[in-house]
Amino acid sequence: MTALIQLQDITKSFAGIHALTNVDFDLQAGEVHALCGENGAGKSTLMRVLGGEMRPETGRTMMLGEELRLHGPTDAIRRGISVIHQEMALAPDLTVAENIFLGALPAGISWPKLRERARALIARLGFDIAPGDQVSDLSVAHQQVVEIAKALSRQARVIVFDEPTAVLSTGDARRLLQIIRDLKAEGVGIVYISHRLDEIYEIADRITVMKDGRRVDTVTPASTPVDQLIRMMVGRPLAQLFGDKPETRIGDEVLRLNGLTLPNGVRDVSFAIRSGEVVGLGGLVGSGRTEVARAIFGADPVSSGEMVLKGAPYRPRNPRQAVRRGVGLVPEDRKGQGIVLDMEIRKNATMANAAPVTIAGFFRPGAERGLVQRLIQSLRIKLGSMNDPVSSLSGGNQQKVVLAKWFNVDPGLIILDEPTRGVDVGAKTEIYTLIHRLAAEGKAVIVISSEHAELFGLCDRVLVMGEGELRGELLPPDYEEEKLLTLSMTRRQPRAAGGQA
Ligand SMILES: Nc1ncnc2c1ncn2[C@@H]1O[C@H](COP(=O)(O)OP(=O)(O)OP(=O)(O)O)[C@@H](O)[C@H]1O
Ligand SMILES: [Mg+2]
Repeated sequence: MTALIQLQDITKSFAGIHALTNVDFDLQAGEVHALCGENGAGKSTLMRVLGGEMRPETGRTMMLGEELRLHGPTDAIRRGISVIHQEMALAPDLTVAENIFLGALPAGISWPKLRERARALIARLGFDIAPGDQVSDLSVAHQQVVEIAKALSRQARVIVFDEPTAVLSTGDARRLLQIIRDLKAEGVGIVYISHRLDEIYEIADRITVMKDGRRVDTVTPASTPVDQLIRMMVGRPLAQLFGDKPETRIGDEVLRLNGLTLPNGVRDVSFAIRSGEVVGLGGLVGSGRTEVARAIFGADPVSSGEMVLKGAPYRPRNPRQAVRRGVGLVPEDRKGQGIVLDMEIRKNATMANAAPVTIAGFFRPGAERGLVQRLIQSLRIKLGSMNDPVSSLSGGNQQKVVLAKWFNVDPGLIILDEPTRGVDVGAKTEIYTLIHRLAAEGKAVIVISSEHAELFGLCDRVLVMGEGELRGELLPPDYEEEKLLTLSMTRRQPRAAGGQA
């Protein structure tokens, strides 16, 4: 059978880094072919070649046995190849509908009609997003949905999903997997890139593993146990994903919230966290977790209720004040808030003024360099030089830089919003170890994650939110996904069980 797509002998390098070396890859119609490998392995670069965005030094792309000579992404789209990027590629100032049809405007159609079509495409994905909304006002999850709608609008024969579920909640991710199954049934060829191995096993017909810019092997899920796959990716067997939490002394109370209420719909949230604790915030996307985190960090205003930090009243008016009091936040939207893309890696990692925070005075620049070096090593950040811009890093490696920055400061309370999004399995383990180490050093850690396994593997207890309320708490004996979801969706009785505070 002639393959729908064949990439043959692809080689590509950037200023001395061999991103791809003689890679072969093929895709059949109606197949889901997963691509996995560590951060920086070359997955996105290979797909940029397929999408006509990058010209390789060697090799060629075949479609149904004929060579494709792509002159840029628009050309690829015309041939039916759509790449949904890991890093959002939407125009932030345009509306949802404008983004969906950008560059592929059907001729002679009115804007109201286009908006209607956009709405229908989004509804097909099971979401309700207003076509007239500006993209920059959407959550990252919704931006991702718009990207997918855009690919659907183009009737693509080949769709590449580059880590689509990294920003989606569990429910949304499930919906996306179903959409992929439907597309597959229609004969679309799908390349699926993800660090969530459970998804890959669920959906892939074949898996190609890449490492250091080379293809290691192409296997089927049925014939390859997951530990073997990990070994192929990481090049070493991986012990336990979550490791053991070191002996930690739970100390004094660090933060207490009493009836925290925010203008954005979060109501009456009360809980306390002690030094040495790792506390999870679980619940569906939109349940208010990020909002609570931002309020604690002084990034959003509080309408009523109080916060007490280490025994003293605490009401930061901006992140700078929060940082001064020893509170840190690794935000969910790192591209917007955590990182400066065209600044050097070294500066980003040690940075004193990452928007929106200024942490001047908090750093001792001399001592940092060695520290950053160690963090780069322990997080296995793959880079050419510390002086390269962050934008030259692969998606997952950018993520690690943001984390490095925060592991580098010394807060008493650190909030991590989706800390392992887009990070490979090996580095995940490292991040878990670092989080445990923070707790062992006596810090209080709050982790927000949409990966329930991650919350359960990492946290001493999990506070569950739903629709802006704190709906209860799970302790390890009750660590089950279903319990968490049920709790998150069960409305609280007025004035009953409002957390222990
Ligand atoms: N524009 C660029 N300039 C310089 N180096 C680049 C550029 N794009 C990619 N690279 C390098 O090429 C290598 C492969 O990157 P790529 O983005 O393909 O990795 P990936 O497998 O997609 O990783 P991740 O899982 O983190 O997304 C990395 O070392 C990366 O730093
Ligand atoms: Mg990538």
